[in-house]
Amino acid sequence: EKGTYPHYMLKEIDEQPFVIRNIIKQYQDANGQLKLDQNIRSAVKEADRIYIVACGTSYHAGLVGKQFLEGIASVPVEVHIASEFVYNMPLLSQKPLFVFISQSGETADSRAVLVEVKRLGHKALTITNVPGSTLSREADHTLNLYAGPEIAVASTKAYTAQIAVLAILAVDTARAKGITLDFDPLQELAIVANAMEALTDQKENIERIAREYLSVTRNCFFIGRAVDFYVGMEGALKLKEISYIQAEGFAGGELKHGTIALIEDGTPVIALATQSHVNLSIRGNVKEVAARGADVCVISTEVTKEEGDRIVLPEVHEYLTPLVSVVPLQLLAYYAALHRDCDVDKPRNLAKSVTVE
Ligand code: M6R
Repeated sequence: EKGTYPHYMLKEIDEQPFVIRNIIKQYQDANGQLKLDQNIRSAVKEADRIYIVACGTSYHAGLVGKQFLEGIASVPVEVHIASEFVYNMPLLSQKPLFVFISQSGETADSRAVLVEVKRLGHKALTITNVPGSTLSREADHTLNLYAGPEIAVASTKAYTAQIAVLAILAVDTARAKGITLDFDPLQELAIVANAMEALTDQKENIERIAREYLSVTRNCFFIGRAVDFYVGMEGALKLKEISYIQAEGFAGGELKHGTIALIEDGTPVIALATQSHVNLSIRGNVKEVAARGADVCVISTEVTKEEGDRIVLPEVHEYLTPLVSVVPLQLLAYYAALHRDCDVDKPRNLAKSVTVE
């Protein structure tokens, strides 16, 4: 039930800190240590390459997951859009493991890949919010998201839950491979939950920014480098699906290869600058678009911030910044849709679960 909330989407955005805390609880043993199903641990450890297959927001979570699995656990990962993969399968490695990410567990495009993968005799793990769903039943293993029912068509808490569970999977795999890590993932996730809360408490500020940048525009660009690029793609998807503003997420460095031609006076650009190793270069892109008239809204962290940034995120482990940087993007999309009188929870032409290919 929505309770006192005007929309499910806003309620689900606000639930994110609780979902993260619930995930911590579900994935820890009696001593507070991370625990994962032994069979899943072996399946991931034995794989020479992971193929993540998903659609929409779940695909965007997969892109972040690749960073975790490669960076933390040294497992090569490919991330594929399900509807493309099924007709255009790459040459597979010797011992692949397929990881399906799906909030609903019912997405037909992903299921078509799962059916094909099983026919070829490969192993599959499904990460889903619905344990008894088709993708969960038909895969060899399931990891649950424990996010509670997600009703709004625009996925919010499932995305952050997927990223949190992928981080847990990566850390468990690293440990299984004997890689020593200098951070405690559950503690870091607890810090994330608090940071998310600090952001959901800043609704007035974010609503003001949405009004300023997005109430009349026809388009909006999200730019970022490294993992910020992936979060920008998710921010753009959120904005387009519920506010009908044409929005795209771009890698900062790609702008000069074409997209910058679209920047004119007053074009809103949301720039994510949360990664210290690329801060200098993304700041360069911010200057380039601003010089061509863009209205730039920079989102940074305590470490990367510069004067004039509109939203400064509380500090969390650098790997986990997508979990907090996406929150203002979700809220910006929500308020943009609200101010443009759009049906926030049930946008036109879309269904919550896409059960046709
Ligand atoms: O249930 P799934 O995670 O498999 O759904 C995949 C996409 O249809 C879904 O994420 C869609 O992109 C959302 N409406 C985005 O907010």
